[in-house]
Amino acid sequence: MKIAIGSDHAGLALKEALKAYLDSRMIPYEDFGTHTQESCDYPRIAEIVCKAILSSEFDRGILICGTGIGMSIAANKIPNIRAAACSEPYSAILSKRHNNSNVLCMGARVVASGLATLITEGWLNASYEGERHQRRVDMLTRIEQRYAIPVIPHPVKEEDTNPLPTANSDPEGN
Ligand code: RB5
Repeated sequence: MKIAIGSDHAGLALKEALKAYLDSRMIPYEDFGTHTQESCDYPRIAEIVCKAILSSEFDRGILICGTGIGMSIAANKIPNIRAAACSEPYSAILSKRHNNSNVLCMGARVVASGLATLITEGWLNASYEGERHQRRVDMLTRIEQRYAIPVIPHPVKEEDTNPLPTANSDPEGN
């Protein structure tokens, strides 16, 4: 299983703790940023990580911001992404078993690293149960399809594609 992981500045420290956990379990991952404490926009990171999952190169994603909420809202805008914002293991496990979540979101201002690690571990170990749940997951997909807007080009603003801050960024330049 290969993980795409990302955070905004508020989630940076927790992301590092979770990367250490993934290292300890020898679970491969790629960190899509941010890489500094410079303020950045969580929707940008969410889109990058979710695109990586949709590319099929990655199996699941982990997104961390201050609350986990902004990341989950952003991720769930993207078709075929089912993101669950969780602050305890039970919901995280059930989000995989029943909802086939493919992105786990957590809030670094909500959960400490020990709890976040347990949440992540439970989610990674959980498997989708399918069967009666597949009918409902299919319904989620059809909701996406019903509200898709096929004829209007999706607007992309410059701020959506600005490079992420790097370790060498000038913190005053924000
Ligand atoms: C950043 O201050 C904060 O708004 C962000 O990390 C996240 O919690 C938004 O949902």
